[in-house]
Amino acid sequence: MSSNTVSAGIETERLVLREHISEDTNAILEIFGDIEVMRFFGMKPIQSLNAARKMIDYFKKSSEEHGLNRWAIVLKDLDTVVGSVFYTNIEKPYFRAEIGYLLGRKHWGKGIMTEALEKIISFGFETMNLNKIQALITVDNQRSFSLVERLGFCREGILREHNFNYVDNKFDDIYAYALFAQHHHILRDGLNA
Ligand SMILES: CC(C)(COP(=O)(O)OP(=O)(O)OC[C@H]1O[C@@H](n2cnc3c(N)ncnc32)[C@H](O)[C@@H]1OP(=O)(O)O)[C@@H](O)C(=O)NCCC(=O)NCCS
Repeated sequence: MSSNTVSAGIETERLVLREHISEDTNAILEIFGDIEVMRFFGMKPIQSLNAARKMIDYFKKSSEEHGLNRWAIVLKDLDTVVGSVFYTNIEKPYFRAEIGYLLGRKHWGKGIMTEALEKIISFGFETMNLNKIQALITVDNQRSFSLVERLGFCREGILREHNFNYVDNKFDDIYAYALFAQHHHILRDGLNA
């Protein structure tokens, strides 16, 4: 297990970001079972508690293999899991990884994911020592690209028919977005640091 698996959780004003645990099963089914949440996510919505359990097992295994790379987003007020955020396609030799995220539909439009990603992006640059964080976003997923643009990502290009959309049964074009360590450090420390 890598040394960065020991984190007890990351706190923000409204959230705790911590590892997924088996008690999250119902919340995972609600989020990953919602067709609107899954539309641009590249997989079919799950349909059973058993599938949710298997996902959590997969999340745990993945964190054991790669170091902590996936967090449940817990709303402090409700003590409820409302989403998930993760790094995937981690290419350590090239200091880059892709970020992915999803939020239960009733929690959209409140800035929750912006708040979570600010911390997870800092974790990526500072603890995982990444140089480049990518986000690959279906061209129709306006909410998602507004989110990363708000966080300073720039659009690098378009990947034609790059993902399969299992909800609409079609290939989706994807915008490739990126944020670089240099840019992040300037945003954090200012130009003269
Ligand atoms: C992508 C996704 C996480 C974006 O969710 P979101 O709610 O738009 O993002 P945030 O939580 O950061 O909220 C931003 C919204 O809250 C508003 N907001 C309210 N309070 C805010 C605050 N304190 N800080 C920032 N924004 C705030 C913003 O104005 C914005 O509103 P708008 O949608 O009217 O522009 C969500 O749509 C989702 O889970 N989609 C399905 C899964 C998915 O597609 N994942 C991405 C695959 S690439």
